[in-house]
Amino acid sequence: MNVTKAVIPAAGLGTRVLPATKSVPKEMLPIVDRPAIHYIVEEAVRAGITDILIITSRGKSSVEDYFDRAPELEERLLRSGKEALYRQIIAVTQMANIQYVRQQEAKGLGHAVLCAKSFVGSEPFAVLYGDDVIVSPPDKPVIGQLCEAYDRYGLGVVGMKEVTPEQIVKYSSLAVEPLEDRVYKVTDMVEKPAPDKILSLYSILGRCILPAEVFSILESTPPGAGGELQLTDAMRALARTQGMTGVDYIGKRYDMGNKLGVLEAIVEVGAAHPEIGEGFRAYLREFCRTLG
Ligand code: UTP
Repeated sequence: MNVTKAVIPAAGLGTRVLPATKSVPKEMLPIVDRPAIHYIVEEAVRAGITDILIITSRGKSSVEDYFDRAPELEERLLRSGKEALYRQIIAVTQMANIQYVRQQEAKGLGHAVLCAKSFVGSEPFAVLYGDDVIVSPPDKPVIGQLCEAYDRYGLGVVGMKEVTPEQIVKYSSLAVEPLEDRVYKVTDMVEKPAPDKILSLYSILGRCILPAEVFSILESTPPGAGGELQLTDAMRALARTQGMTGVDYIGKRYDMGNKLGVLEAIVEVGAAHPEIGEGFRAYLREFCRTLG
């Protein structure tokens, strides 16, 4: 069954990028000239996803404004002959069928995904974490790489990468067995493992495909690490019962919920940018000389 629906949880408090995120959602932090969430929606669309539900919260209406029409601006651009820009901003509003639901309290990623229950219905669906931008070759969107594994094995899929021992205790840790190139069977997982509970250095990073059964599991999952309803806890139940697969995806992830990640994204995307890349690379070369 083709995956046509995606959920983008974007309702977190973003405390690691305060004070900016007091009034600018981390999902709206710009990478050159587009907000982070634009890249995420683009990735989903490239993978053939047509319907997207963005989970928002208080103070995040700029996400809705971004994907909405802006008649006054559109008219001004047309009147002043800026047709290329006009087409660009209209294209943003036509990327996909985008809907929104508000998570009333930030009770965790699992709780945010549960808010998508009626949107999803009974189909498998993609989850793209709203603060994880992943750059990959245009014909290999990361969520598409996961969809391929879903088609082949018919099980929920997590996107995974190896991380450092310092990082794994802040992320999740997976028990895996190799199946084929870059694809693994996932038999167990733990969120924010204590050092003696680390299963491997493979962690879920930013993307998954889930069967609709995850909703009933989430409904009976108690709060986990940090007192939040953890999506990982529900996926662990799936991994232990029906099994899940993991894809060590091709792509570079930038954590927009972390100050260093924001800077890495801006520098690397900026350096490859068709319009300003050349000038920016020249600036970087000069700047690097001053670092000693
Ligand atoms: P994070 O755990 O990185 O988000 O969740 P956070 O709670 O904003 O993080 P801090 O405060 O910096 O530690 C990953 C994704 O899940 C969303 C976030 O917006 C982010 O895109 N999320 C998280 C929700 O939608 N709701 C929540 O209750 C928690």
